[in-house]
Amino acid sequence: MTGRTVVVTGAESGIGAACAAAFGGLGDRVAVLYFADAAAAERTAGAVRDRGGEAMTVQAHVDDEGSVDAAFAAVERAWGPPDVLVNSAGLNMSGVTVRTMQLAQWRRLIDTDLTGAFLTSRRFLTGRGETKRDAAIIHISSIHAYAVRAGGADYCAAKGGLSNLVETLAIEEAPRGIRVNAIEPGMILTPMNARAQSDAAYRASLERNIPMGRAGDPAEVADLAVFLASDRARYITGARIVIDGGLSLMQAVGA
Ligand SMILES: NC(=O)c1ccc[n+]([C@@H]2O[C@H](COP(=O)([O-])OP(=O)(O)OC[C@H]3O[C@@H](n4cnc5c(N)ncnc54)[C@H](O)[C@@H]3O)[C@@H](O)[C@H]2O)c1
Repeated sequence: MTGRTVVVTGAESGIGAACAAAFGGLGDRVAVLYFADAAAAERTAGAVRDRGGEAMTVQAHVDDEGSVDAAFAAVERAWGPPDVLVNSAGLNMSGVTVRTMQLAQWRRLIDTDLTGAFLTSRRFLTGRGETKRDAAIIHISSIHAYAVRAGGADYCAAKGGLSNLVETLAIEEAPRGIRVNAIEPGMILTPMNARAQSDAAYRASLERNIPMGRAGDPAEVADLAVFLASDRARYITGARIVIDGGLSLMQAVGA
């Protein structure tokens, strides 16, 4: 499939921006959904156009049903129902242990990283109705969907729940030719890892834990998203694909 309509959430930065640009490079129409930074979203749209794609920017808070609905409606008015959803919007773990975590913090993470995946998936599906054309949903999850960290209960629970959402959606939508997969990155150099980009010693201390010896680039995650959305991945659904340079295999080191 080429010339598809692709919706990318969290597309004003990091992995979402890289995905938007990569789909632009295939000549796709890319809806750059952003949380608040309209100027950053315009930069992503510029990158999409520079690479030969079409772009529009639309604000969308993935944790808000009305906002998600309005954003998809705007895309549908312009280009018709999307063929691909890449949901990259997300918040990082709070670093707060459960003992001291406020309910509002827990809800904020779950609402964004898990309910946001539900709301965007559902709106993508209802917008398509019973359209028969193949389609793909890709959620950006994390190795923390299964490799937990103290201080990450909010994030690990959200991403762990996302695994089951992806698998459930995959079996529900397979008969309609809609494939649903998750990408589970390790350490990727994005604003979510801002300190690693400004503090070389800190970054080196983290990269020592990665068998491949380096953090990943958002464009490497985008390459995987492009593959999962393509016909080359036509028999892949309900998969959770790790992209982490081997990081998550190091859990039992020293045991
Ligand atoms: N960077 C990493 O190392 C890493 C590792 C594993 C997983 N991830 C996941 O990748 C995804 C993208 O993260 P990133 O690294 O590009 O970080 P990022 O901070 O650059 O991107 C996240 C984007 O989500 C947006 N966002 C936050 N709350 C939102 C909301 N309620 N509605 C809509 N948008 C919202 C932010 O504005 C931001 O643009 C996230 O789901 C994250 O959990 C990142």
